[in-house]
Amino acid sequence: MRIGVLTGGGDCPGLNAVIRAVVRKGVTEYGYSFLGFRDGWRGPLEALTKPLDIPAVRGLLPRGGTILGSSRTNPFAVEGGVERIKKNLQDLGVDALIAIGGEDTLGVATKLHEIGVNVVGVPKTIDNDLSGTDYTFGFDTAVNIAMEAIDRLHTTAESHHRALIVEVMGRHAGWIALHAGMAGGANIILIPEVRFDIEQVCKWAESRFRLDYAPIIVVSEGAKPKDGDESLLSGEKDAFGHVRLGGIGDYLAREIEARTGKEARTTVLGHVQRGGTPTARDRWLATRFGLHAIDAVHAQQWGQMAALRGTDIVMVPLAEATKELKLVDPALYAEAEVFFG
Ligand code: F6P
Repeated sequence: MRIGVLTGGGDCPGLNAVIRAVVRKGVTEYGYSFLGFRDGWRGPLEALTKPLDIPAVRGLLPRGGTILGSSRTNPFAVEGGVERIKKNLQDLGVDALIAIGGEDTLGVATKLHEIGVNVVGVPKTIDNDLSGTDYTFGFDTAVNIAMEAIDRLHTTAESHHRALIVEVMGRHAGWIALHAGMAGGANIILIPEVRFDIEQVCKWAESRFRLDYAPIIVVSEGAKPKDGDESLLSGEKDAFGHVRLGGIGDYLAREIEARTGKEARTTVLGHVQRGGTPTARDRWLATRFGLHAIDAVHAQQWGQMAALRGTDIVMVPLAEATKELKLVDPALYAEAEVFFG
């Protein structure tokens, strides 16, 4: 059997660890051969391939990014895209696909499975907002990077009696902000799931200053004020209909300065959260997802995705995992509120 592998959407630490595990087990235990597809769904769409065998995956475990490249190509937004994918897979002798991605990449995998393509999914996203799995790989690395940034910002904020705002990724879900904010001892955490009141944010900041501490505010890029919209860098949409978010940190700094008279500055962590080597936990999770994904191919469990439930890896239907996003439960967010202000 020949298996195609692709990585789609925003890259994240651990993608290479999945590829390595899939190929190592697939070749040694099942005798399969592999073909890498470049740049997400653009690979099968345009027959862009890369050889994938055991020598090609050597040394990949600690390497960030993806050796296959990634893109946000949506074959369902391209005329005749799906037929082209089916034809290319046939011409290349590819019997099954392992698609490693988040909501968009696996959303495409779900639809392709429904029209007869043999596909197994692996969940990745630093945002951790994919349903069906307790965690996605990449998230732990992003949280640790953000936590380290918050730790560093505490001392400089206090030295200068400033409010410092840390804008982290998280388009729809505040998982990174919540986990990194709690781990880093943030004084205010703002997430997309719970609209914030700017007056309350300023009150919390002022109470922090009164205690002779400088407030650290962690905000997800997708957070919204109670009477406003998300802050956009550009209204232009990608192939999946997503706009480019950005600017909420600067908005908060402007409002805090104007309303409290204290200096406020913003640090936008951006793609630093997605780059570089994965943490031990992400290497472990990515490797286990890869091992179970190739087992699922062997068992012909098409249309399924590897998922973490507790400490077990189980297979769940892609359709279930991509139906809706996994958002932060307001009750979980409320736990963090005891530290606000
Ligand atoms: O989906 C993961 C993610 O990191 C989001 O948190 C963020 O909004 C988006 O990707 C940024 O994507 P890009 O690098 O394509 O601008």
